[in-house]
Amino acid sequence: MKSPAWTLPYAYLKKQFERPGTYLKKIEAVARRGDFTLGKEVAVFEAQAAKILGVKHVIGVGNGTDALYLILKALGIGVGDEVITAPNSFVATAAAIALTGARPVFADVRDDYTIDPACIQKVITKKTKAIIPVHLTGQPADMKPIMAIAKRHHLAVVEDVAQAFLARYGSKYLGTIGTAGAYSFHPMKILHVWGDGGMITTNDATLATKLKLWRNHGLKTRNEVEFFAHNSRLDTIHAAIASVLLPQMPGVVKKRRSLAVLYDRLLKPLAGHVHVPDRNLCTAPIVHTYTNYVVMAKRRDALITYLAKQGIEAVIQYPTPIHLQKAARYLGYKKGDFPVCERQADTILTLPCHQYMTGRDVGQIVSVIQKFYTKV
Ligand SMILES: Cc1ncc(COP(=O)(O)O)c(C=O)c1O
Repeated sequence: MKSPAWTLPYAYLKKQFERPGTYLKKIEAVARRGDFTLGKEVAVFEAQAAKILGVKHVIGVGNGTDALYLILKALGIGVGDEVITAPNSFVATAAAIALTGARPVFADVRDDYTIDPACIQKVITKKTKAIIPVHLTGQPADMKPIMAIAKRHHLAVVEDVAQAFLARYGSKYLGTIGTAGAYSFHPMKILHVWGDGGMITTNDATLATKLKLWRNHGLKTRNEVEFFAHNSRLDTIHAAIASVLLPQMPGVVKKRRSLAVLYDRLLKPLAGHVHVPDRNLCTAPIVHTYTNYVVMAKRRDALITYLAKQGIEAVIQYPTPIHLQKAARYLGYKKGDFPVCERQADTILTLPCHQYMTGRDVGQIVSVIQKFYTKV
């Protein structure tokens, strides 16, 4: 099927990369130096990011999936272990666990799309080694009770911050509260590169040293290999791009937050049709970054078609929860195991909400939604 010409698209990549001048200059400098792997710009970016987030160590890696996987490997997690996470994440969260040989164990989520601490508690066994809370959409998971459970059971907490760069919980940035944080720089993430990239944050010096080996063949020096490991480095060119973007991120987040607040306000009168999640379920004050603006809507699929006819691109993230994917069959889950997550999967939709939009665009989208529920 030919895709419609979107007037209000969800994806904004063309706009994001339409003025490549500053980046190209940096890339040219990398090419002239020839330090393509773990070059100067990687160290510059890591130091910049550590300063902004207030964390001791930042380790640039190849992508967000590897960030999760390498943390789990460096923590010694593998065959015979269990790691608890949410079933409504992007598949990479569970895949990273499975790739270590450990078993992904799911716990249901709350109205705000993040893992429910009460459900975590119920699935802890003697084999549990870690919890991966996913700060989905940019909404912080409730870190206080999660950290308390982890402390009681001696578990690591690996924060999946792929969708939540610069989001905060209490006085801290996400990714700096647990044992380590895993970020993705996929082009659709708030902080992004021109392809794949990611980073790990941690305040644990021993873990940081191990992770630097894990991302670079286990090489302690040029010719000394401590253990067999992976090659998953943040490319120098990507690090150069990320470090140009980094100072712009607070402004980007501010814009997204203001559009989301406007959406929330304008959608309020449609409460019988469109459910805006309760963003205040956390036991600490939070700052949401809205990597995705997700609501739950009655007659969701018909609404998406109606919006598309008006040139508005709404998408579903993600229509099939991980426990119901073919890849997860061996884990033995079935429909009905995670009712909140499954109900959300049937009704969620992501509306366009990004730094290239205006308040007028949001108003236009909400008026089309209103028309759908009053006329169709
Ligand atoms: C929640 C979440 N976790 C992990 C990942 C994996 O990141 P990457 O695509 O960089 O491997 C993503 C990326 O889409 C994500 O959204």
